Amino acid sequence: MSERPRVWVSQPLFADVLARLGEHFEVEATREVTRHEPAAVNAILRRMDGALVTLNDPIGAEQIAGAQRLRAIANVGVGYNNLDIAALSAAGILASNTPDVLTETTADFGFALMMAAARRMSEAERWLRDGHWQRWSFDSLLGADVHGATLAILGMGRIGQAIARRATGFGMRTLYHNRSRLPAAVEAECKAQYVGFDELLARADHLVLVLPYSPQSHHLIDAAALAKLQPHATLTNIARGGIVDEDALCDALEHDRLGAAGLDVYEGEPRLNPRLLQQRRVVLTPHIASGSLATRRAMVALAVDNLIAALGFGPRAGDPPSPINGGTRDRGPGTRI
Ligand code: GLV
Repeated sequence: MSERPRVWVSQPLFADVLARLGEHFEVEATREVTRHEPAAVNAILRRMDGALVTLNDPIGAEQIAGAQRLRAIANVGVGYNNLDIAALSAAGILASNTPDVLTETTADFGFALMMAAARRMSEAERWLRDGHWQRWSFDSLLGADVHGATLAILGMGRIGQAIARRATGFGMRTLYHNRSRLPAAVEAECKAQYVGFDELLARADHLVLVLPYSPQSHHLIDAAALAKLQPHATLTNIARGGIVDEDALCDALEHDRLGAAGLDVYEGEPRLNPRLLQQRRVVLTPHIASGSLATRRAMVALAVDNLIAALGFGPRAGDPPSPINGGTRDRGPGTRI
């Protein structure tokens, strides 16, 4: 009798959604949110055929060393900078992510965070809760308009486009910059105009970052980039923390060279640069842009579909819905042993 494939689930997710894994595999699930050490992950992956991981879990050469039977890594998240795709591809391991199912929810949040920063919502609530509201005054906590303003989107993938579509309802002018220009029909649908990077920064009233994190985008928004923004502009980041030089951002806020910022992601999260916590004109949220209940469940369900298919089971056996690379290890049904 052949042994069932073994899969590891690196963090506690929705048990009822994960239950489908148990129809095909022996499942080893982590019960508490855990910061796994690389050596511990390696020891686990050496026993596994597949794994379902989150952005908390870096998976690269160190983690997969000697993991002979490992064939698939399913990432719960659209961003996959936690995965070393070159190392996984070299080992023939199929990696997948969870695009599409989170697009609209993440765009909702990006838009809300941009509005919250522009209208100083967190600052106003802190002020109110701290008992400062003695009488209504005409000129307290004045913010910047969103309607009719210029929205600048850096990174015009699915989420960037969904934010642009929202902006049409607010009568905004939308500019974007992206590695490649979108087809004219998509630009027309999003009512978005392609501009160069410097022009995007110079014309932005509200700059929103939605680009993937890579060595090329590390600290792309640094002191020089921030200096190109208008002093009233807002910066919203729902991409990855490492894209922004947080010290340069704090300098800009402290010297009134930037209007406000909305941040959902941080370099080194969940640790925060202590200077950010001192800023008045920032809205800070703990990486929750895709965090509606329905969407988080849909993300886990898609990662489960990916893992089942990548390991050769289910209706899409051998053809996972959202692969990142092409794994070359055997994807036939059952175990390779
Ligand atoms: C969340 O940040 C994701 O990449 O899905």
